Amino acid sequence: MTIEPEVNNSKSHTSFLILSASLRSDSLNTRLAKLAAAAIEKHGGEVDFASMSEFDCPSFNQDLEKENFHPKGAEEFRNRILANDAFIIASPEYNGSMPGFLKNSIDWVSRFRPQPFKDKHALLMSASPSMAGGNRGLWSLRIPLEGLGTNVYPAMFSLATAHKSFTPEGNLSDEVLASRFEDNLVAFMNLVEAAKHYPCMKRAWVEFLGEKPDPAVERVE
Ligand SMILES: Cc1cc2nc3c(=O)[nH]c(=O)nc-3n(C[C@H](O)[C@H](O)[C@H](O)COP(=O)(O)O)c2cc1C
Repeated sequence: MTIEPEVNNSKSHTSFLILSASLRSDSLNTRLAKLAAAAIEKHGGEVDFASMSEFDCPSFNQDLEKENFHPKGAEEFRNRILANDAFIIASPEYNGSMPGFLKNSIDWVSRFRPQPFKDKHALLMSASPSMAGGNRGLWSLRIPLEGLGTNVYPAMFSLATAHKSFTPEGNLSDEVLASRFEDNLVAFMNLVEAAKHYPCMKRAWVEFLGEKPDPAVERVE
């Protein structure tokens, strides 16, 4: 059965869901997400800030899907994706990959029809005390999002030695890095705005892995 999404896209400016994918109270990724929110607002965009705790879901189990069940966290995530023109995720890297609860919520949201990640633009960023800044986790996050038809922006931002990289006011202490961070966000904003006003940029999305048509394995919409 097809569920009609509650779309609220009446905002006049380009709007961005910004999600910190850390549940930790003193999260470095939340700091980075807040910096992204400030830059978006500075350049005229609207921000819808979210914490992963709003999108929390029970462990995915197909047996729970009876009678069109979707957890509240998945409904909220779906609605917020649809209500904005694009989304930005600042995600920690856990053991070289994305946090399990983020993947779990993505799996739940992927079960809605229409599938809300399709055709949305997304920008990925990470912060970590390590020298790689959590960048491997972002590569793992690209895989499900791209598989679901999201246009994941090629340039990702990973903040290395993040525990030493913020000023007390929450800015990046390295000026060159701060300017690259802002430039990357502005370039992403321009793309999202262009895609909003020039729908010809939208691409057809088909996941085709060579399998024969079969409702049991169909992923094509
Ligand atoms: C279970 C676990 C696994 C981790 N694995 C990695 C890792 O693979 N790479 C990395 O750069 N940092 C890793 N870290 C360190 C996190 O980057 C660090 O705790 C970071 O502050 C988490 O993000 P947050 O501050 O936004 O919560 C790991 C932390 C935990 C708790």
